[in-house]
Amino acid sequence: MAVSITPSSGTTPEQSAAGLPPAVLIEDLAFRWPGKGEFQLQVPHFHLDQGDTCFLLGPSGAGKSTLLSLLAGLAAPNQGSIQLAGHALENASRRARDRFRGDHVGLIFQQFNLVPYLSPMANVLLPCQFSARRRERAGPVPREQAQSLLAALGLDPAKLPRDVRHLSMGQQQRVAAARALIGAPEILLADEPTSALDHDHRDQFVDLLLGQARANGSSVLFVSHDRSLQTRFHQQQDIRQWRSDLTTREAD
Ligand SMILES: Nc1ncnc2c1ncn2[C@@H]1O[C@H](COP(=O)(O)OP(=O)(O)OP(=O)(O)O)[C@@H](O)[C@H]1O
Ligand SMILES: [Mg+2]
Repeated sequence: MAVSITPSSGTTPEQSAAGLPPAVLIEDLAFRWPGKGEFQLQVPHFHLDQGDTCFLLGPSGAGKSTLLSLLAGLAAPNQGSIQLAGHALENASRRARDRFRGDHVGLIFQQFNLVPYLSPMANVLLPCQFSARRRERAGPVPREQAQSLLAALGLDPAKLPRDVRHLSMGQQQRVAAARALIGAPEILLADEPTSALDHDHRDQFVDLLLGQARANGSSVLFVSHDRSLQTRFHQQQDIRQWRSDLTTREAD
């Protein structure tokens, strides 16, 4: 039976010195996409402490976005458990996972997923429409937080076209990032969030993302092929360790 998401009971040895459950805890996970027999992700154990950041790399098609989909509750594992900040996702209903994601997770999709009929500003404000918690955490006037996030990312909302389809890829990526950051979600999942940015905007973006995460105590899982960024994160993981058919000697 599908259940809602409640904090897992009991104290686990995974709790940090501060007594907090990890931001992300995966145990004994196995996942296949239906009809894709050759692809299997197996994660015996992964954890990310609250406030910590992780850089995830690996070759195209190895399953980085799939892992983020599982953590975001957009897909459910075939086996094993996923806990976010002590809340078990794996047996929750789709609706409960969606609500949990809206309240606690900022997600930057690889394809941005901006809503085409909404303006850039309305896209950024979207999490505050769906989640009272995000709206409260966005301050008394969420639009002001949206404006300052966009400005910090080098975008002037007054100068952006109203139609998001007229934004450049780099502009879309930054609007998607501001949407993920608004309302200070505890967990940020960023799927190649700098792929469309030039060098200066990339650095500005990573500074902002990690700075916001630090200020809010948020944890970050950051997917990228850009190894020059990896030392900025507390931990580095290669997705190939969770694919029994891939070796880490292959180039990514
Ligand atoms: N929604 C889906 N339905 C079915 N198969 C999928 C789906 N999404 C991804 N896959 C398959 O899962 C495997 C891993 O894909 P995924 O997108 O997770 O890789 P990736 O590491 O993010 O690659 P890239 O670096 O190109 O973004 C691929 O074989 C892909 O075809
Ligand atoms: Mg991907």
